[in-house]
Parts: sequence; C-alpha cells; structure tokens
Amino acid sequence: MRVLVTPDYRTLSQTAAELVIKAVLAKSDLRLGLPTGRMLLGTYEELVKKHRDEHFDFSKLITFNLDEYLGLALDHPKSYRMYMRRHFFEHVNISPANTHIPDGSPGIDPDRESERYEKAIHGAGGLDLLIVGIGANGHIAFNEPGAAFDSRTRAVDLAPETMSNAKQYFGTDSVPARAITMGIGTMLEARRILLLAAGASKADAVDRALRGPVSRDVPASALQLHPRVIVILDEAANRK
Ligand code: GLP
Repeated sequence: MRVLVTPDYRTLSQTAAELVIKAVLAKSDLRLGLPTGRMLLGTYEELVKKHRDEHFDFSKLITFNLDEYLGLALDHPKSYRMYMRRHFFEHVNISPANTHIPDGSPGIDPDRESERYEKAIHGAGGLDLLIVGIGANGHIAFNEPGAAFDSRTRAVDLAPETMSNAKQYFGTDSVPARAITMGIGTMLEARRILLLAAGASKADAVDRALRGPVSRDVPASALQLHPRVIVILDEAANRK
C-alpha cells in the first residue's frame, strides 16, 4: 500500500481528484467505482470544478456506485442515487446511461438486483479504479464487520453504529436497516483501489485497516491483500 498523508481535507480532495483525472486521461472510458458519504464531497467538488473551469470531458466515463440503501424511493433525497446526482452527475457531462447504482427502491427483489448488478460490473469488464471511504467501524461500502472477503454484491443488514451515525443525515425520517452493497470480493477485483479517510473519527479504523492484522472484524483490512492500493489521509486520520 502506498500511503499519502496530506495536511488537510482540501489537499486530500485535490490529490484524489487529480488521480481520477489522470486515470480518465489515460483511459477515457474508465470503469470507476464510486462511494458516497461526507468524505467524498470535496473530491466531487474538485471534479465538478475541473469540468466547469476547463471543460474536462467525462462523457465516456462509466461509473458503478458501491452501494445503496434498501427501501428508499429512487428520488428519496437521502438515497445515494440522489446524492450522486446532486454532488456529481448533474454538474458534469457524464452520460446518465453510463452511471450505475444498485436499485434499492421499495418492491425490488434485493437478491435479483444484487445479481444483476454484479453481472453488470463483470459485463463492463470489471473496475479499473475503485474509490472507497471507510466507516468508523472499519466498514467499506456497506460490508460491515464479519463480512466475508470473498463476498459479492448482496443485500446486507446495517450495523447498529452505522445506522446511528446515519441518523444525522435522516433527521426525522427513519434510517433504512438494510442496503445493497458490492461485496469485498467484488471490490478486491478492481485493478486499482484508492482509499480515502479524513478526520480524527476515522483514525482508529484507519490504523486497524492499514497496520492491524487482516481480519474479518475490520473489513477495510482486506485491502492489505490487494497489490495496488493508494491510501490518502489527512493528518487527523493518520493519528496512531
Ligand atoms: C457509508 C457508506 C460508505 C462510506 C461511509 C463513510 O456507510 N456506505 O461507502 O465510506 O459511509 O461515510 P462518511 O464519509 O460520511 O464518513
């Protein structure tokens, strides 16, 4: 793993965005795995700026989001689908047909949808670059502690701490208890992985993921098994 420590969140976001830009320049139809969460807001902001100020071309980019809540309507403001529109897709020239997010809307069959999604990733030739954040409990996407390292895209229950953390975003709405997530096995097949973490609340999870034993108790520790991982941290997340 290559670990870059940046002085602050802004520099971290710029560094991550530059890496994505370079990858798109090298391969315009890059297959890019994308996360959501607060962590990524700065990176999306930088990518949007690159398009707005320099007309950077995202028209051939193909994206696959990591996960989506189960039980929220497609246009629910807290769905990851809406997050992606609001923070990235609506502001760049990506083709909507090239953006993929699991469908977690009410009435969907989660097992069939998971299988369809996994096949779509394979059908596209797999992921060239996968960006991941990390939960305070060490989760990646919605692979909570205990998830198998060979897991595929599937429906999962959210850990209690993940749900209570999400409460701040849902306000009076109840937080979904389940989600569809790419599996750890699916994620490890990406050709390159970029892990991003900022803030003191992630320092312990980062330490366990990067420097602790590889263990199912810390899903992000699975990344130690991948040959091409770049980790970008801010100072606060790098506290040992
Ligand atoms: C959610 C997402 C993850 C994300 C994590 C951390 O659980 N499913 O993909 O990495 O939150 O989010 P944040 O960056 O808001 O701390």
